[in-house]
Amino acid sequence: MKDDTKVVVKGRHPQEQFGAVNPPVVHASTILYRDIEAFRNMDAYVSYGRHGSPSNFSLREAMADLEGGHASLLTSSGLAAVTTAILSFVQSGDHFLMVDTTYGPTRSFCRGALRRFGVETTFYDPLIGSEIKDLIRPNTKAIFMESPGSHTFEMQDVPAIVAAAKDAGDIITILDNTWASPLFYKPLAHDVDVCVHAATKYIVGHSDAMLGVITSNEACWDRIDKMNRYMGGHAAPDDSYLGQRGLRTLSVRMARHEENAHKLITFLKSQPEVSRILYPGDPDDPGYEIWKRDFSGSSGLFGVVFNGGSQEQGDAFLSALAHFGLGFSWGGYESLMIPSTEIVRSVRKWQPEGQSFRIHAGLEDADDLIADLEAGFRAWRAVGA
Ligand SMILES: Cc1ncc(COP(=O)(O)O)c(C=O)c1O
Repeated sequence: MKDDTKVVVKGRHPQEQFGAVNPPVVHASTILYRDIEAFRNMDAYVSYGRHGSPSNFSLREAMADLEGGHASLLTSSGLAAVTTAILSFVQSGDHFLMVDTTYGPTRSFCRGALRRFGVETTFYDPLIGSEIKDLIRPNTKAIFMESPGSHTFEMQDVPAIVAAAKDAGDIITILDNTWASPLFYKPLAHDVDVCVHAATKYIVGHSDAMLGVITSNEACWDRIDKMNRYMGGHAAPDDSYLGQRGLRTLSVRMARHEENAHKLITFLKSQPEVSRILYPGDPDDPGYEIWKRDFSGSSGLFGVVFNGGSQEQGDAFLSALAHFGLGFSWGGYESLMIPSTEIVRSVRKWQPEGQSFRIHAGLEDADDLIADLEAGFRAWRAVGA
């Protein structure tokens, strides 16, 4: 079955819910047993509200299928998916390899919580490829990837990193696949052990819920499931519902995000102030060959670096926009734009040649978005004049 069909049909069981197309939202802590016999024989894993309800199970089932995993679970946020996945595989005295271009709070978790727990993190260059073998120590337990990287969009050579992890023995590989969504990249098919998503972004898709997903192969599943239970992990029924509902339209939304991103990029490249675009789906991007080899599409999130310019000009640009909202997150139906000139890195410093921005191409008509950017350029030029 093709993915475009899977997002529509997987995890849906209308005949078990009065024929209703979508799963019911069940608010529950206590789940009553029919009788004492059922209680005695209980499946301890689905006996309590914390362990999920129909809308939660629906999205889990669909995600495990889409990612080609053994199973999936939902977390209260994307960051909770990241931290739960990491904690499943490291303990005091271990060494952990984290890509330098990871999402900021993932970096903070390593520098703050993991350090306190006695786990040493080494941040590595996203372009390291097979050379990661030189950073692997006898106590290295896991390697975390995020491709493309947050804000700067470097592509990682995932197969080379996975091969190095396997050569070294029992090192678990984890990948944050949020940018590509479960449609445009399949980490588990590239032998990555664990895939995490901030479902808050494209899967929910409407900027109205926080949610995370962890999917893994069979060998890793038990440790992840147990860690989630130890930590009291829970995804709320309403948010799980919004996640499974968002999934149903993911393929049409992703196609439009991708199309709009390309249209905006074509326009931006024609402007003299623009130095470069950070988007692996663009043939001029240094990561394009890896993207073409491994991915089947590119999403709506990309970077643009200007040739110089002042913060005042950058602020004037942003202030002139009507359709691009100024706010964190991305993956919703609406376009967004934020400054990204100051991004923390420890291996390769981020020193753009000018003002830099992260853009999320939403689902609006691209002509309106381009007209908005034109207003931004006019405001920029007015400050520079
Ligand atoms: C790549 C990536 N991973 C994880 C997260 C965290 O997701 P959440 O905001 O749902 O905690 C984000 C949020 O921006 C992200 O961009």
